[in-house]
Formats: sequence, structure tokens, C-alpha cells
Amino acid sequence: MLDNKDLEAEIYPLKNEERKSQENLGNPSKNEDNLKSTPPQSQLSRCRTVAFFLSLFLCLFVVFVVSFVIPCPDRPASQRMWRIDYNAAVTYDFLAVDDINEDRIRDILFLYKNTNSSNNFSQSCVDEGFSSPCTFAAALSGANGSTLWERPVAQDVAFVECAVPRPRGSEAPPSCILVGRPGSFTAVNFVTGETQWHHASSFSRNASILSPLLQVPDVDSDGVPDLLVLTQEQEEVSGHLYSGRNGDQIGLRGSLGVDGESGFLLHVTRTGAHYILFPCASSLCSWSLKGLYEKVTGRDGPFKKDPLWESMFNITSHRTLSHSSGAVRYLMHVPGNAGTDVFLVGSEACVLLDGQKLTHRWPPRAAHVLRKPIFGHYKPDTLAVVIENGTGADRQILFLDLSTGDILRSLALPSLPGGPLSTSLPTADHRSAFFFWGLHEPGSTSETETGEARHSLYMFHPTLPHVLLELANISTHIVAFDAVLFEPSRHAAYVVLTGPANSEAPGLVSVIKHKVRDLVPSSRVVHLGEGGPDSDQAIRDRFSRLRYRSEA
Ligand SMILES: *[C@@H]1O[C@H](CO)[C@@H](O)[C@H](O)[C@H]1NC(C)=O
Ligand SMILES: *[C@@H]1O[C@H](CO)[C@@H](O)[C@H](O)[C@H]1NC(C)=O
Ligand SMILES: *[C@@H]1O[C@H](CO)[C@@H](O)[C@H](O)[C@H]1NC(C)=O
Ligand SMILES: *[C@@H]1O[C@H](CO)[C@@H](O)[C@H](O)[C@H]1NC(C)=O
Ligand SMILES: *[C@@H]1O[C@H](CO)[C@@H](O)[C@H](O)[C@H]1NC(C)=O
Ligand SMILES: *[C@@H]1O[C@H](CO)[C@@H](O)[C@H](O)[C@H]1NC(C)=O
Ligand SMILES: *[C@@H]1O[C@H](CO)[C@@H](O)[C@H](O)[C@H]1NC(C)=O
Repeated sequence: MLDNKDLEAEIYPLKNEERKSQENLGNPSKNEDNLKSTPPQSQLSRCRTVAFFLSLFLCLFVVFVVSFVIPCPDRPASQRMWRIDYNAAVTYDFLAVDDINEDRIRDILFLYKNTNSSNNFSQSCVDEGFSSPCTFAAALSGANGSTLWERPVAQDVAFVECAVPRPRGSEAPPSCILVGRPGSFTAVNFVTGETQWHHASSFSRNASILSPLLQVPDVDSDGVPDLLVLTQEQEEVSGHLYSGRNGDQIGLRGSLGVDGESGFLLHVTRTGAHYILFPCASSLCSWSLKGLYEKVTGRDGPFKKDPLWESMFNITSHRTLSHSSGAVRYLMHVPGNAGTDVFLVGSEACVLLDGQKLTHRWPPRAAHVLRKPIFGHYKPDTLAVVIENGTGADRQILFLDLSTGDILRSLALPSLPGGPLSTSLPTADHRSAFFFWGLHEPGSTSETETGEARHSLYMFHPTLPHVLLELANISTHIVAFDAVLFEPSRHAAYVVLTGPANSEAPGLVSVIKHKVRDLVPSSRVVHLGEGGPDSDQAIRDRFSRLRYRSEA
């Protein structure tokens, strides 16, 4: 045990010399006053100065080393533009975007049909038991277009979708479901390209598969949501349930006893009952998942019915009795203030329906919408829907405020038949940038000079409502298109997949990525009606300065 004096000596070793002067141990502050005047203390302060400068120097040295000598961890450089060509191929209207190689740059997955894999991955159709030509899935690096993986997945693909169930809370890789022709049903791991499961499909040959594939709550109690595939044959829709884990069929085919079209929604009512909503024979039909599950398995399932919904739809025909929008074309979910609402696009009008009572939230807005609408933000943080009223030379693009149904803006933008769908990307000001394909040079009379129709890509931002920016033009057939943020909150790019229009006549298939900002300086500014005060260059500068936001 140290006594008080020894302890003191340990803490202040230099004080040992002045023990004599220390009578009062309990008063350290007084001692320090005494110490300051003694010569050894000046030595100490010199010591401190040296230590101070030494550590300062060390700090600066470390800063220098970190900032200049040690190279930054390699951030993979994303090329502003790349293009990959496949000869003698055909492609499908399918593009999926996700980070496959974990370099924090999103990558591209697409399908093409070719005799040989055109890359140096030595895999051919025969290796996977297909005859040539067969369909390959290819994953391309978003950074530079290099092939990440590529493999034959089916003889031919009838249907593909990548929103596929994963066990709750698991980090299982995302996968895509492919329905092949003739009859195969396959899940492919998005990240590695490996087949997760494969079955001969149980759909009859004449049946067409209706989109989308629905993910239903786990019915076989294996912890993975299951899959509901709807098919149509001879004016009758049937449901097929599959295990999300291994693709095994659950029960048998269950006929819904009605005609129907693609565009199914799995809707959960406010009471927690699951219903399938779909366009059928020009009206709106619904089937309870409970009823379908009982039909398919012959057992009672974990689902319930909603008395209100049971009373709204005719029990035998499953149709609603009245709605005033003409034949139903599209049904889309929209976040509402009390749950999910349903946006219904009919042949004569579109309208927002309450998600529980299916009543109109605003009066139907008359429009001839032939293509699927998109969503985006015209006013900050207010969801708007973008519909195309009419086609061809009469096409009008309308921005509707979803909460009121008011028209926020209308643009006349003639289109060519078969042009790609529009898309939007959120911008940092909580609005969206919109990308539309239209006829090259609207308003010009020399459209047919070469005979080759040109699609132009136009960009629109709500802060510049009187201007369209023509970013690019393409005369080849566009099979798929998307505007993508390859890196979170960084530059926007667009991806186009071009290829032969006729799947019987193989030709050049290309995947092209372009950074949007690089196209702005050479773009053409199209003034709509009243010309704003800004010069074209000032407008291009504003588009160049647009910053994008990753979707939450
Ligand atoms: C496919 O590969 C074979 C040899 O492996 C070659 O003879 C043939 O020309 C290739 N076909 C195409 C379309 O590249
Ligand atoms: C395939 O290999 C050839 C020569 O070995 C090379 O020139 C070409 O760039 C490679 N293609 C790909 C996509 O890697
Ligand atoms: C392309 O980018 C990937 C990362 O995304 C990288 O691993 C690869 O080496 C790059 N290839 C070329 C040819 O630059
Ligand atoms: C498929 O359709 C064809 C012609 O439409 C018909 O002859 C054939 O019987 C159908 N097959 C089945 C299995 O229904
Ligand atoms: C339900 O539909 C059937 C067949 O379309 C029809 O005969 C019946 O009258 C409808 N029921 C009601 C209550 O409208
Ligand atoms: C859609 O176009 C038609 C004419 O083609 C027009 O009568 C109608 O008012 C337009 N709808 C809207 C909402 O502007
Ligand atoms: C559109 O195509 C024409 C003719 O090929 C070309 O001169 C023009 O620069 C293109 N415009 C844009 C914005 O790329």
C-alpha cells in the first residue's frame, strides 16, 4: 500500500526535490503555484513544447500520407457511354436493373436469342439441353458494359418477371421467374445466373400467361411468399399456385370462370382481406384469394373475405355493377392517405378509386388512354400521374394531380406506333424529370424525307414547363428503354435495348447506356407555345445542373 506521500510522488515525480517545502499535502493548487517559479519547471515546459510540435508534426504527416500518398480505395469508374452489340440475335421486351456484382453501380439484365453465346463465356445452348438457337440471359456491368454472366435459360421465353419472393428478412439473392416455350418454369438467381429451380410447366399449350406474376402470402408454411400465375385459355382465366421456395405446384389449376386480361392487382382491403382485381370482358372483376385457394387446394386457407367487397361484386359473375369509365384497361396501386387506392384507366376515362369502397375520389377525367400511365412528381412531393391521351399525331401528354384529378400540364407530343413507354426519375428538388419518346422534330413537315421513322427522346422538368429538351434520336427499332440512376444520387443515364422488330428475322441487338448530362450540351431545345425569356443555352445549363435523388 502506498501512503499519501508516495502516491503524490508517483503523480508528480519532479516534486520529490521540493518535499521539504511541502507541508500541506491537501492543497495541490498551492503546490502548483510554487512549482511554476522553480527552474526544473522551465525544463518541463520546453519538454512540453517539443512534445507539442512533435505531435503536431506527426499529425500533419499522417494527414499528408492519408491525403496524398495512400491512394483512395478504387471507386470503379463508370463509363459515360457504352454499347454492346450481338449479331444475328433477337431480343425481348425486358430490362432489369440491380447491383449484381456489388460494386455499388447498378447492372443490367436482359434476354436475347442467339445461336451462340456471342461472348467468350464458353457456353452453348446444347450444354443446357436446349437446341440452337435458344434464349440467353445476360448480365452486363452498368459501369462499362462488360459481361458479368451469361447463360442459356430456355428454348424460348414467353414470360419473364423479376419481382420474386424471398424469405422474410433473409438476404437471399433476388431471382427472376421465366416461363419458357415449350412449357418450362424456371427461377434464375439474378446475381449468379444459376438456376434455383426448374420444372416442366403445367400450363396447357394454348394458354397465354397473364401479367403480372402475383406474390401471395405464404400458403405452404415454408416462410417464403408463394406465387400465383394466371393464365387465359378460350376466354377463361385460371389460377395456378406455386411454392416460392422450390416452384412446386400447390393444388391444381383453379378456373375463375370468367374472361380476363393482363393487368392483375393483388389488393388487400382495409380489413386485411386479399382480393385479385383485374380487367375482365370490359369491366372490373374481383376474386377473393380465399375463394381461389379453396378452389385450387380443396382446403380452407389462411385468408379471409371482406363483407363489403362481397356485396360490391356480383357473386356469380364477379363483376362490379357500375363504373363509368368504359372498358377497364389498366389498374394501378397508388398510396392513399388511408391505405392503398386504385387508379383505374378505362377506355373513356380514368379515375382514382378508394381502396376500400371503390368509390371515385374525384370525377372521372375523360381521356383515351391506350398505354400504361406512369407516376412522378410534378409539384414537390405530390404524386402525379402521367397519361397519354390519344396516339400518333394527336397524342397529348397530361400530368394529373392524383389527389384532385386536376390537369397540371398538357403537352402535345406526337408519337410513332410502338414507341417505348415514358419513364420518370426523382430529382433533388422533390419533383421528377420525365423522359418521353416522340416523333423526331414535332411540327416539322419533313418527317418522311428519308422514309425511316426516327424516335426522339425528350426530357421534361416541371420547373421548365414550356420547354422540352430533345436529347437523342434513334432510327432503329427500340425494344426496351429505361432511365436509371446507376449510382445512388449520382448521374442519370438511359438504357435502350434495340433489335429486330420481327422475332423471326435475327439482326443486330444492341444495349446502349448514355449519361443524360453528356447529351444536354448537344441537345435541341423545343419551345412549347409561349417562348420563355431564357436563351437555349441558359435552358441547357439548367438541365445540366439537375440533380437526381434515389428512390426511397
Ligand atoms: C456459332 O458457333 C459455331 C461454332 O462454334 C460457328 O460455326 C457459327 O458460325 C457460330 N454462329 C454464329 C451466328 O455466330
Ligand atoms: C472475346 O475474345 C476476343 C479475343 O479473344 C476479344 O477480342 C473480345 O474482346 C472478347 N469479347 C468479350 C466480350 O470479352
Ligand atoms: C468493368 O467494370 C467491372 C466492375 O464493374 C470491372 O471489374 C471490370 O474489370 C471492368 N472491365 C473493363 C474492361 O474495364
Ligand atoms: C389449341 O388450339 C388449337 C387451335 O386453336 C386446337 O386445335 C387445339 O385443340 C388446342 N389444344 C388444346 C390442348 O386445347
Ligand atoms: C349477377 O350476374 C349474373 C350473370 O351475369 C346475372 O344473371 C345476375 O342478375 C347478376 N346479379 C345481380 C344481383 O346483378
Ligand atoms: C383527350 O383527347 C380528347 C380528344 O382526342 C379530348 O376530347 C379530351 O378532352 C382529352 N382529355 C383531356 C383530359 O384533355
Ligand atoms: C437527330 O438526328 C439528326 C439527323 O441524324 C441529327 O442531325 C441531330 O443532331 C440529332 N439530334 C440530336 C439531339 O441528337
